[in-house]
Amino acid sequence: MCGIVGLIGKGFETKQVLNLLKKLEYRGYDSAGIAYIKDKEIVIKKSVGSIDKLIPKVKPIKINAAISHTRWATHGIPNTINAHPHTDCKNKIALVHNGIIENFEEIKETLKNKGHEFKSETDSEVIAHLIEENYKGDLKEAVLKSVNLLKGSFALAILSSEEPERIIGVRKGSPLVFGLSDDFNILASDITPILKYTKQVYFMDDKEVVILSKNDFEVLDFEGNAIKREPQKISWNEESAEKQGFKHFMLKEIYEEPETIKNALAGRISNNEVYLKEIKDLNLGDIDKIKVIACGTSYNAGLVFKYFLEKHLNIDIDVEFASEFRYKKISPSEKSLVIAISQSGETADTLESIRMLKDKGIKVIAVSNVVGSTISRESDVTIYINAGPEIGVAATKTYVNQLIVLYLLALEILRKKNAFDKGVKEVLKSLIELPEIIKKIIERSNIKPLAKKYKKYHHFMYIGRGINYPSALEGALKLKEISYINANAYPAGELKHGAIALLNRKFPIFAIAPKDKFYSKMKSNIEECKARNAKIVAITSEGNKELEKICDDVIYVPKANEDIYPIIISPIIQLFAYYISSTRGYNPDKPRNLAKSVTVE
Ligand code: F6R
Repeated sequence: MCGIVGLIGKGFETKQVLNLLKKLEYRGYDSAGIAYIKDKEIVIKKSVGSIDKLIPKVKPIKINAAISHTRWATHGIPNTINAHPHTDCKNKIALVHNGIIENFEEIKETLKNKGHEFKSETDSEVIAHLIEENYKGDLKEAVLKSVNLLKGSFALAILSSEEPERIIGVRKGSPLVFGLSDDFNILASDITPILKYTKQVYFMDDKEVVILSKNDFEVLDFEGNAIKREPQKISWNEESAEKQGFKHFMLKEIYEEPETIKNALAGRISNNEVYLKEIKDLNLGDIDKIKVIACGTSYNAGLVFKYFLEKHLNIDIDVEFASEFRYKKISPSEKSLVIAISQSGETADTLESIRMLKDKGIKVIAVSNVVGSTISRESDVTIYINAGPEIGVAATKTYVNQLIVLYLLALEILRKKNAFDKGVKEVLKSLIELPEIIKKIIERSNIKPLAKKYKKYHHFMYIGRGINYPSALEGALKLKEISYINANAYPAGELKHGAIALLNRKFPIFAIAPKDKFYSKMKSNIEECKARNAKIVAITSEGNKELEKICDDVIYVPKANEDIYPIIISPIIQLFAYYISSTRGYNPDKPRNLAKSVTVE
């Protein structure tokens, strides 16, 4: 997720472009850049860090065409070379990109053989060279030919010194919109920068190209056919536009999950096989133990990984809280695989655990969302979860993307261990179908009224079995951190060993009971709770009506492969916590006493 702003018009200040770009800084802020045309040449300025660092580098002059970008790194660390805009060999084409190009390595190889020279590690740069290769005097034709060769998701803004009177936008998978105003026309990755100038916004559909000039625009499909496009009137103000109309970032980020799942999967599955290029040199077939280190939500993601892999492989997996692990004298054996999970890549306890292991010469694989973070730099390899920036303090889309990446890693281990059987193949198939399923779950869920009903309680107990015990832990963690309700999580079979004593009509149960192999046992545990007068909310699979007789409320999720229920259930437990928090009048984006990156012990 990055921010794109392009302007074309009668004359505007460079500063105006950067001020508009600032409105998209919440989409990424590790580096920024601008390209504009001056004296028929492309001028590029880039900087690491926020847009404020870029401003002093850019001359305050009047220009007619510019594209700009604020980056959230996916391919290549945040530095000035990897920052956008990227250019072709002759510096005549500049472009900025949001998304992931899945086949960039193949294209890069082909173009290198044709003599193109690349400067950055990014997937984005290949697009500039590809357009250069296809340019025969008409930028529109070159862009159309090139975008049809790209796989993946992308929103592009393109500028050429050969045709300075227009900028071109392309959308496939990643959003792009434009608006027309008196002084200039604007292309952007979302409506926030446009609203200051016009409330009439043109939304681009997938596989469309827009050619924007100072007086006009033309929308085409990828075959070059003209498309009629009408503007839509937007009633949002600038602040709500930043959250795309959602009341809080947390809610927006939950709604982004179908998209972010696509980004976690992009380029990592081909011909029904997992391809995690980051770990291609590791000898996964040889490992005999796995140690996972993490904190909080990342720890819960690690537990899901453990349950999944231990079900399909006879291997011992320990998941440890980094805050405990760092003080142990443990030295995992040479055949152990050590995985550190941290969305921020900065968590002090996880980092210190990694340092302790590295001092002993042990290799660590990191799973993180932040390219160039300390944990990613100090680990041997990092598998990125590609969730884009998460502003809400509570982890939501990053948890879901951690799960996706950990399932992929588990599948890769199973393949290397010759345990990739039919059941496991089904899991891979289910992962591919997830974006659509999660979209439906989020759109159809009606959690708000339920949250209103349960917001008054002071305690909650989440229960689950097997791979959904970590889902119970995650549900309870979400609830307590943003709603300040005391919430516990138990493996359902463990209740009768003590915690059941807590239950009465003032102590509700949140039961995670999909139709999986533990379902009948879960049902018995739910009955036990009911017998203690506890109110019960349950999640179960569509079609299973019998829980309605014993539970007070039932939330249905689509029937799915039982191994992936923790992902299917995630948006529900997140929305439940979100709505309880917001209906109690709290700000779920900024829970008290918590920070997004916990860089202290
Ligand atoms: C919960 C949450 C925290 C983090 C934990 C670890 O919503 O966000 O529990 O999961 O602080 O953070 P990372 O993953 O950045 O190491």
